[in-house]
Amino acid sequence: IDIAPIIAASVDPAQNVGYGKIILLGEHSVVYGYRAIAAPINLAIRAEVTRPAAVAGARPDAAAKSELVISGWDSDPAAHNPDGAALAERVATLIAARLGVADTPVRVEVFPELPRASGLGASAALAVSVIRALVHSFGLSLSEEEISQLAFECEQLVHGTPSGIDNTVATFGQTILFRKTDAGNEIEELDIPVPIPVVVGLTGVRSLTADTVGRVHAGWEKNPQHYEAIFSEIDGLVGTGVEALRRGDLPALGEVMNLNHGLLNALQVSSPELEALVDLARRSGALGAKLTGGGGGGAMIAIAEPGRIHSVANTLDVAGYQTYLTEIRTSPNGRVKR
Ligand code: MEV
Repeated sequence: IDIAPIIAASVDPAQNVGYGKIILLGEHSVVYGYRAIAAPINLAIRAEVTRPAAVAGARPDAAAKSELVISGWDSDPAAHNPDGAALAERVATLIAARLGVADTPVRVEVFPELPRASGLGASAALAVSVIRALVHSFGLSLSEEEISQLAFECEQLVHGTPSGIDNTVATFGQTILFRKTDAGNEIEELDIPVPIPVVVGLTGVRSLTADTVGRVHAGWEKNPQHYEAIFSEIDGLVGTGVEALRRGDLPALGEVMNLNHGLLNALQVSSPELEALVDLARRSGALGAKLTGGGGGGAMIAIAEPGRIHSVANTLDVAGYQTYLTEIRTSPNGRVKR
């Protein structure tokens, strides 16, 4: 639609951001109330809202409709997801309705640095960026908790039964220890004395978290004791991981990442592509490597000593994988330059 005249939203674009994330330890079991550690990465999604100037006395154009434009994702064949655009539309519609601005036509432009359907929290980051952009454009006031909660509702639309960890990191941009409880989420920001360098490698296989979460749920229904035992084991690794993070003990952290990956494999959310990537990262000097996020494809994370991390990333690059370098650190927001 042609909305004219367009006025640029009076926002600081830097504020309309939702952060991507990695789960360092504890994905999937976190859905069942066990602990997990997540950190923001230096890839985000930004949104901008433009809307027609309110012309005094002008009748609203009944034909004008809102539109959502996402730059870049369609030209990203590795992560192409034909349903993604429709889902993003539904998310934007839900947000506009919850914010009470559904009747005003707007143009929402979304600029993702994150690949989608890769386990890096793109859906939550998209929701947070759109919420922030609409909030600023309409001069609304929402607390950070309210933004996170609305993004959680969007995640329910996309994933069915999200734990709440993705929308929390997408909103607050902090490295956290997270646990979902009936009384609400327990969220603790982690103090990390030394930033920990991480290579993120993409398998190039898109995977929807909703699918792998559904598969784990089906397995849990059939074998609840065995699945709970695995979740509880993962929870113990998370506890050890928190202590290793606080001490800056990379070998200990790497070891629990490797063990966590094995248990995720037991839950059948790994894939041949993830196994190949994890194996290559370990052979090239990573202290720990595991799938991150939903699995079934998507992304792998590996940690190594600071002097070794570029060589791990290079080996993956040379083998043809897309990689990103990031750091796990105490806020502000984990955004570091590559
Ligand atoms: C997705 O980033 C992590 C999962 O644990 C799902 C969730 O926590 O909502 C697989």
